[in-house]
Amino acid sequence: MNNLILNDKEFKVFQKIIFDETGISLSDSKKMLVQSRLLKRIAFYKMNSFLDYLRYIQINKKEKIEMINQITTNETYFFREMKHFEFIEKLAKNMDIKSRLRIWSAASSVGAEAYSLAMVVDEYLRKDQWEIVGTDINTEVIKKARIGLYPESWVKKIPLKYRQKYCLKGKGNYEGQFLVDRKLITNIKFEKGNLLVKQEGIGKFDVVFLRNVLIYFNDEIKKRVIHNVISNLKIGGYFIISLTENLKNLDIKELVQLDTSIYQKVSK
Ligand SMILES: C[S@@+](CC[C@H](N)C(=O)[O-])C[C@H]1O[C@@H](n2cnc3c(N)ncnc32)[C@H](O)[C@@H]1O
Repeated sequence: MNNLILNDKEFKVFQKIIFDETGISLSDSKKMLVQSRLLKRIAFYKMNSFLDYLRYIQINKKEKIEMINQITTNETYFFREMKHFEFIEKLAKNMDIKSRLRIWSAASSVGAEAYSLAMVVDEYLRKDQWEIVGTDINTEVIKKARIGLYPESWVKKIPLKYRQKYCLKGKGNYEGQFLVDRKLITNIKFEKGNLLVKQEGIGKFDVVFLRNVLIYFNDEIKKRVIHNVISNLKIGGYFIISLTENLKNLDIKELVQLDTSIYQKVSK
């Protein structure tokens, strides 16, 4: 059963479904990766071919979501690209006592980005002054983010002062893991959200993090995703991408660049 091969014709159908659902352009070199990730689902259902699985996801919405969960790449870690957290620290430090700060971690994966942001802003702002929303298309990573339990090895990336304040070492069944202190969670929400669609229900933000996800999209999808996302950004608000990404050739008129990877929305 585990010897099943995904043929080119079937792979093309998966490529199309994944593109239509997520905007992710999977190159032909990703065939083996798709094959190995989806074999697990095929084994779970004791199916005999990729074609059976293809037919199944077309009539079963839940399994289509599961298929997408298998395909997305969710690599993340705490305080990834420290420059951005220093930027947020400065922002929080200089905020006047009457203002509120809302930050959106769009494509939040398992929540390391959102919790890192929370640790920084909680240091400077009162609880009623900040809110963070994390969204991702992958329903499994959203579940993990809500729980906030991570392998102990991940704690190393967290600056000591935050580690001591917000990370609880697991004992017994949780040995080898740490939990982000639940006192932060009251100000953080994690929800399913597809970047291909405008997120109407989550309101406007002062800062949006959209990092390490644009790389999966072609230029047309990048433009669409950025326009969707910045429609939730207040004028004057900040839009942050990864240090390894850029908005070259995209001609997003609403944004001006302030620094590498940091943009400001200047018009509607
Ligand atoms: C590599 S992770 C980046 C996580 C985090 N932003 C960081 O920089 O560490 C990319 C995330 O984008 C999500 N993603 C991919 N396509 C998406 C889409 N169309 N809508 C929402 N999230 C998407 C994936 O599920 C994955 O969790």
